Amino acid sequence: MHHVSLKPFPDNFLWGAASAAYQVEGAFDTDGKGLSVWDVFVREPGRTFEGSNGDVAVDHYHRMEEDVALMAEMGLTAYRFSVSWPRVLPQGRGQANEAGLAFYDRLIDALLARGIEPVLTLYHWDMPQALQDEYGGWEDRRVIDDFGDYCALLFRRYGDRVKTWVSLNEQNYNLSNAYLLATHPPALADRKRFYAANHIAFLANARAIMLFRQLVPDGRIGPSFAYSPAYPASCAPADLLAFDNAEEFTNHWWLDTYCYGRYPQVALAWLREQGEAPDILPGDMAALAAAKPDFIGLNYYYTLTYTDNPPDGVGLQRINTTGQKGSTPSSGVPGLYRTTPNPQLETSNWDWAIDPTGLRIALRRLTSRYALPVLITENGLGEFDRLEDGDQVHDVYRIDYLRRHLAACQEAISDGAALLGFCAWSFTDILSWLNGYQKRYGFVYINRDETDARDLRRVRKDSFFWYQRVIASGGRER
Ligand code: BG6
Repeated sequence: MHHVSLKPFPDNFLWGAASAAYQVEGAFDTDGKGLSVWDVFVREPGRTFEGSNGDVAVDHYHRMEEDVALMAEMGLTAYRFSVSWPRVLPQGRGQANEAGLAFYDRLIDALLARGIEPVLTLYHWDMPQALQDEYGGWEDRRVIDDFGDYCALLFRRYGDRVKTWVSLNEQNYNLSNAYLLATHPPALADRKRFYAANHIAFLANARAIMLFRQLVPDGRIGPSFAYSPAYPASCAPADLLAFDNAEEFTNHWWLDTYCYGRYPQVALAWLREQGEAPDILPGDMAALAAAKPDFIGLNYYYTLTYTDNPPDGVGLQRINTTGQKGSTPSSGVPGLYRTTPNPQLETSNWDWAIDPTGLRIALRRLTSRYALPVLITENGLGEFDRLEDGDQVHDVYRIDYLRRHLAACQEAISDGAALLGFCAWSFTDILSWLNGYQKRYGFVYINRDETDARDLRRVRKDSFFWYQRVIASGGRER
């Protein structure tokens, strides 16, 4: 679709950047915080790149004011962050930790004082270890009540000031890693348990949305979905089927359920045949259908290209966590699909395809299929950065990536997408869960590496000044 002229970004467009508690806060056992599953998991040998962990992370817990001042200098109009569940409820439920709640009060107030809209994520993967130990976290329906109580606590506490909320961050990616790939806690590889836990997480997401309707009636809420639009490797019908399988099993399985309370029927039939479908109790699907989100949070990094995979074909494989280009193997589900490199696309050093048109395609598919507004809750480039003399970081590759993805946003807006905002991933450099600190995403460089926290100095990268200009011009100057 070609447009003679493109529509501008709307005046109230949110120009944002994002983070997540475990990846930035540090202070993992400070001021009464309980442990999350990640605090424990990273201590197991071999789980993360060079044993990196978020004990200190980028020390945002202690440097929050400095970070918010940098956001204001940059001109952000939105900042997406997550609350650490065990920081505010050390045991996952019961007694709240006032010091933890007060930290987020201070953050929210600091943002509002600078005219930056807080976008609060309720869950970015840090399940309280206490609940994991007690009943297996997402694997037990008791988590629905506990998650609901935790969310209600935050709705009551912050709902007067925070109006834009994200429920679960990347339920699809997190639980796939946790229950299929064994790369996130609790590190299992069991498809039956995966679909069961995922079903319960849907119900918890729905509970949060229903509570939100009562407690923050003037706010808006939606899940953030890790959307990698599928492409077929060729026009061979077998590749089209593989592509179709991938869309059903890796995308519609979540998106249809969030938006319509309905699992894709062909995928459900296949899982039933395998004996791996989730147990759906009476009332479950009605509960899901009743909790339609206000918007879809879109985390977009890359597209994936699929080809046919026979019943004895390749299974799921671990991704590249070293930055050694070309080390990602083909990965798939035997009988359904497997990935194959797309020869049309460049990749990052972590083998993630760089595909701005894929973002436009994602926005168009979401718009036509679900008729909901979209908030881009993550998009960015993880790369090696070099700190040069005079505290300079010339991250031209990141500027190029973001520039092209913003152009795709404008095209999608012109196609009819109701795009609420763009939260780049990430504001400062962060701990990349499995990739350590060397896979950097920020506009602000943090002077630390995997094992040495150094001075944690904040350094504005070239992309910082670039995004500042983009925001000041309402997206016209890129
Ligand atoms: C998303 C997550 O999966 O992508 C972020 O929500 C994460 O927390 C980001 O950091 C980039 O992924 P990675 O693995 O490169 O850190």
